[in-house]
Amino acid sequence: LKNVLIFTDIGVDDTFALLYAFNHPEIRVVGVVAGFGNVSKEKVTRNAYYVLKQLNKVSVPLISGASRAFAGDEPTYYEEIHGISGLGNIETEIEEFTFYNFDKVFEIIDETEDLVIVNMGRLTSLAMAYIISPERMQRTSRVVIMGGAFLVPGNVTPYAEANFFGDPVAANVVLENTGPDKIVLCPLNASMKGVITPYIVENIVSESVTEIGSLIGKLYEPYYAFYQKQHPSLNGAPMHDLLTIVYVSNPSLFKSVKRNVTVEESSYLTTGVSVADFRDQPQVNETFNNYCEILLDIDYPSFIT
Ligand code: BDR
Ligand code: CA
Repeated sequence: LKNVLIFTDIGVDDTFALLYAFNHPEIRVVGVVAGFGNVSKEKVTRNAYYVLKQLNKVSVPLISGASRAFAGDEPTYYEEIHGISGLGNIETEIEEFTFYNFDKVFEIIDETEDLVIVNMGRLTSLAMAYIISPERMQRTSRVVIMGGAFLVPGNVTPYAEANFFGDPVAANVVLENTGPDKIVLCPLNASMKGVITPYIVENIVSESVTEIGSLIGKLYEPYYAFYQKQHPSLNGAPMHDLLTIVYVSNPSLFKSVKRNVTVEESSYLTTGVSVADFRDQPQVNETFNNYCEILLDIDYPSFIT
């Protein structure tokens, strides 16, 4: 059984990832940290509670994360992609709920052997954990991150991917402090290939015997419509965050390379861009402590089955 602590900014693709994680027999979700990103931290926290409730998993700790990036202005939110609530067309009528403050992250780290952290949103909350308790963070066995775009177009700017662009300073804190051979990055290079088609969603909806099926339809609709407008050549919508959890359960589906990775923190054109030396003989700088496995491709036929 793999113990997974999820940092999320729910989000349509985040929700697909959570549904997958909670339904996978080999994954045990030990906590969900809600931070700003696709929508505000308050909305993400509500959404996380809503998803836990639908899955009968409210006993899983829901933890309050960061509400803005380390540097820069107020966050930009992406309601045109994820819906006003962040959950597509779902209306989240929910009762009062409670959540833990950030310290709970450390309690979970102390209590859990072989903990895998999966980060599906801006890196701010996770970087906070490294800043507050760097020694503790060394107890984790793997850190899987949806973030970056290497030598391919970005999604929020021509060059940068949203999770790195949303807090490049935090991204570097995580990259530089995790230690060698622990980080797996799932950048747009791989995540844009994780396309879920309307046909797949229709099948899930029609085969589902629970409420979750119809929720998946409502989540998907506006997200798919956005991607149809932006990328008419895709025959569906890429479920970026889903691939991080698929990696945890089935790493052999991916092709990857190992490189040092840094994120551009402030630059007129390239803020948030992930940089790595992709030459066959990369220049290795021993002073860098940011060696990552970078996922570049996925075995698509196996992914969708
Ligand atoms: C990433 O940014 C977020 O908006 C998505 O949920 C995903 O984690 C894609 O760049
Ligand atoms: Ca996300």
